[in-house]
Amino acid sequence: MLIKIYAVSVNAADYRSMKMGLIPKRRIFGADISGRVESVGKNIRQFKNGDEVMGDLAKFGFGGFAEYVTAPEKALIIKPVKISFEEGAALPMAALTALQALRDKGNIQKGQKVLIVGSAGGVGTFAVQLAKYFDTEVTGVCGSNNTLQTSSLGADCVIDYTKEDFTKSNMRYNLIVAINGNYPILAYKKTLTPDGIYVMVGGSLSQIFKSLLFGWLLSFGSKKMRTVSAKANNKDLEFLAKLIEDGKIKPVIDRRYTLDKTADAMKYLSEGHARGKVIINIE
Ligand SMILES: NC(=O)c1ccc[n+]([C@@H]2O[C@H](COP(=O)([O-])OP(=O)(O)OC[C@H]3O[C@@H](n4cnc5c(N)ncnc54)[C@H](OP(=O)(O)O)[C@@H]3O)[C@@H](O)[C@H]2O)c1
Repeated sequence: MLIKIYAVSVNAADYRSMKMGLIPKRRIFGADISGRVESVGKNIRQFKNGDEVMGDLAKFGFGGFAEYVTAPEKALIIKPVKISFEEGAALPMAALTALQALRDKGNIQKGQKVLIVGSAGGVGTFAVQLAKYFDTEVTGVCGSNNTLQTSSLGADCVIDYTKEDFTKSNMRYNLIVAINGNYPILAYKKTLTPDGIYVMVGGSLSQIFKSLLFGWLLSFGSKKMRTVSAKANNKDLEFLAKLIEDGKIKPVIDRRYTLDKTADAMKYLSEGHARGKVIINIE
């Protein structure tokens, strides 16, 4: 299908791949798109010209920082009319990551105490809202500028990491989702309840490597240390889109750029303090 892109969001996957020299197949970054079907090939069954669509093109060579992109039909879902193009672009990678970390790796259960470390960014703002949707008691960890935002997203408790080190408190959590920051992996383990689960989503590169190298080793015993590698999944994306339609979660949009300012958008996100999602509006 040929898609006319209306909005695309920026992800760590864009600037981190760029920094590492990992150039996507289409030589254009940008994964999370929303737009309109401009024309369809003869084997396309689920979409027609004019349909509003959204999805994550990371598995299909990226190409979203552009006015048009081609995509196979399995890459996209119909964008519900109640969701704006900006919201459609904000959703895929960040929200899927949060969902798969909490539900699939974290086995989140009603009533649990859940700690979201890095609650203020693209993934974190979805993680806080989704953890509340799963009816848990949520604590978010973020910097001073974002404590109000984290509580307004529903967190029951907020820890300002510039003032307090959660690894030194006596609180214990059933589930810790580590999205940002850099804490010793053993300190995370100590902060879990005896049968707690730690899920590493991201953070500093050293945090990611330590979790990958030692996480499985530290999983002997009742506490589990896991890493998530989010997978584009249309069923999950439809589930998340329905939560937005029903007003259960809401994408948090920090800044908006135009296509000619894509470099500025990438620079802003790579500085590590975006407050929600960064969007490039194309149409
Ligand atoms: N495993 C996967 O499948 C997967 C998928 C997507 C993303 N990721 C990874 O997840 C991470 C987050 O992605 P993102 O899109 O949410 O990034 P992002 O939007 O750029 O995250 C920015 C946020 O991180 C917070 N932050 C920075 N330093 C922090 C610290 N020391 N402690 C707590 N919060 C801190 C900032 O809040 P403050 O300004 O308050 O500090 C800011 O709100 C990245 O490392 C990314 O590579 C992994």
